[in-house]
Amino acid sequence: MNREPRALDVTNLVKSYESGGPRVVEGVGFRIPEGSFYALLGPSGCGKTTTLRCVAGLERPDGGVIRLGDEIVAGPGVHVPPEKRDIGMVFQNYAIWPHMTVFENVAFPLRVAKRHTKREIADRVGEMLALVRLEDFAGRPATLLSGGQQQRLALARALAPSPRLLLLDEPLSNLDAGLRDRMRAEIRELQQSLRITTLYVTHDQGEALSMADRVAVMHQGVIVQEGVPREIYHRPSSHFVADFVGTANLIAGRVVGRDGSGHAEVDVLDGRLRLRCHTGDATGEAVTVSIRPEDIRLHASAPPGVPGVVKGSLRRAEFLGDHLDCSVDVGGVVLRARQSSHGVPSAGQDVYLEIPPSLCGVLTAV
Ligand SMILES: Nc1ncnc2c1ncn2[C@@H]1O[C@H](COP(=O)(O)OP(=O)(O)OP(=O)(O)O)[C@@H](O)[C@H]1O
Ligand SMILES: [Mg+2]
Repeated sequence: MNREPRALDVTNLVKSYESGGPRVVEGVGFRIPEGSFYALLGPSGCGKTTTLRCVAGLERPDGGVIRLGDEIVAGPGVHVPPEKRDIGMVFQNYAIWPHMTVFENVAFPLRVAKRHTKREIADRVGEMLALVRLEDFAGRPATLLSGGQQQRLALARALAPSPRLLLLDEPLSNLDAGLRDRMRAEIRELQQSLRITTLYVTHDQGEALSMADRVAVMHQGVIVQEGVPREIYHRPSSHFVADFVGTANLIAGRVVGRDGSGHAEVDVLDGRLRLRCHTGDATGEAVTVSIRPEDIRLHASAPPGVPGVVKGSLRRAEFLGDHLDCSVDVGGVVLRARQSSHGVPSAGQDVYLEIPPSLCGVLTAV
């Protein structure tokens, strides 16, 4: 029953729901190598589910090509129906069948496929239930499972026919925070042990960054940045990505000089601070510098000999258990800085912010 996972190639995908209507997916392209885990991350309405449904064959694209391994499953004049694509899917509301037992939920798609004997089906269901640790629940009505168990059942059902590709659409959004954390580790482990090519759709950056080999950030029907999780988080290429993926301080700056090695001198905070940043922007150009709250260090007095230090006034330090969320006013610009929760700075106090230039990004507007 084991089929090899396939790579997924999506090229220039275009989709609108009404002819001549707005394009909700506009030239999306990505490649998922065999056995790899890929996340599409973006806010509500950006076109994630639409992209996924086109890959599954539940929607017909208006343009573009979708390839599964060597086979074109969607393209000009080609539309392979969903049941012929060998794709497993888990939807946001996991849609297990409530009138069936746990066993029947996993067995049903195998029966419909009519490729297996009764014995083979029973063996496969047993194997899948063991994989998601539900073997003791086979005879139970599916509705009498907890949220996390129902989620695992939905996964077992999607994986039972040995699909060549697994599609997951916000599979954890109905679960509480603790269970979500555990399930994301479980899904990732399962994906790695099966080496199944996986496309995972989410608006949750924590899920995308912790689970995926690569992440594509989507905005208004377009992929605006693609890369490994660290790149997406530490090197956002635009305001949108810096803001959507984590928290970022976005500071207006101006390029005041260049040194010929790809570096530029950038004035920020009305010239209070000059940073030597990596940017291709020309002298005189207005830019935005981004710095993550956890990359800013606060000092009670000016640290001697450290570059990138600016004085500010602490407005607020909110205790959040594992850290302090500090807001610091620097000449009317408020910067967020994340500090150890053991520190006890008090509001109104003068503080010195150390902004390491190597951790700053210079962003484009989109
Ligand atoms: N069947 C449909 N008919 C018409 N418009 C649709 C249909 N499905 C989705 N849309 C529209 O297409 C756009 C993209 O929707 P999509 O469901 O792909 O977004 P999404 O990124 O999955 O969002 P969410 O995170 O809320 O699930 C939205 O503006 C949505 O209103
Ligand atoms: Mg969606």
